[in-house]
Amino acid sequence: MIKVAPSILAADFAALGQEIKRIENADYLHIDVMDGHFVPNLTIGPPVVAALRPHSRLVFDVHLMITGPERYVASFLEAGADLITIHAETGGHLHRTLTQIKEGGARAGLALNPATPPEVLRYLVELLDLVLVMTVNPGFGGQAFIPGMLAKIAAVKQLLEAAGSSAEIAVDGGIDAKTAPLAAKAGATVLVAGSAIFGSADPAQAVDEIRRFCSGR
Ligand code: DX5
Ligand code: ZN
Repeated sequence: MIKVAPSILAADFAALGQEIKRIENADYLHIDVMDGHFVPNLTIGPPVVAALRPHSRLVFDVHLMITGPERYVASFLEAGADLITIHAETGGHLHRTLTQIKEGGARAGLALNPATPPEVLRYLVELLDLVLVMTVNPGFGGQAFIPGMLAKIAAVKQLLEAAGSSAEIAVDGGIDAKTAPLAAKAGATVLVAGSAIFGSADPAQAVDEIRRFCSGR
């Protein structure tokens, strides 16, 4: 079953509490954290996540686009993150940071920028609950889906299967009713979408539509 993860980056930041009530039929709430260093944009931090936590029953899926993510894992765990994804390109001790997330009681994800090959997953597989294949260069919403990433989704799927892993495969960037089925067909099981959901007049319907298009109905 495909899961849909609306990204609040495309929501009205002046009314986040109400915005997340509009997509209660989704699976995950995707929260994009940017530091103006790893990516050329700044967004939100742990206090906003903590403020939103009592307003939603969705799985809080925190996407850390920050340098040195190990410095903030504890704060996001405390704020109520259920799943924390770090970027492979942040380097450092990825194994240690993923372990830190899991020992803190959350699920752990690893994100790959478009230029990053899937091989980086190989020796981390046992720690991974999710692999996030970026289908745009991270930093902004509303960018166009990069079609070359479909082959990477398939390669990630193969690598995970060969390792006996049941980690989810998520895609993020330029996902809409047209690109979602392509990503799902290649092996994605979690679809992150910002503009296609919060830019729609009826976000809940947009969530359903993405699910329906992926199941071919
Ligand atoms: C991009 C973020 C995405 C973004 C997706 O750096 O990680 O989650 O919100 O936005 P859309 O769906 O508009 O491409
Ligand atoms: Zn994201």
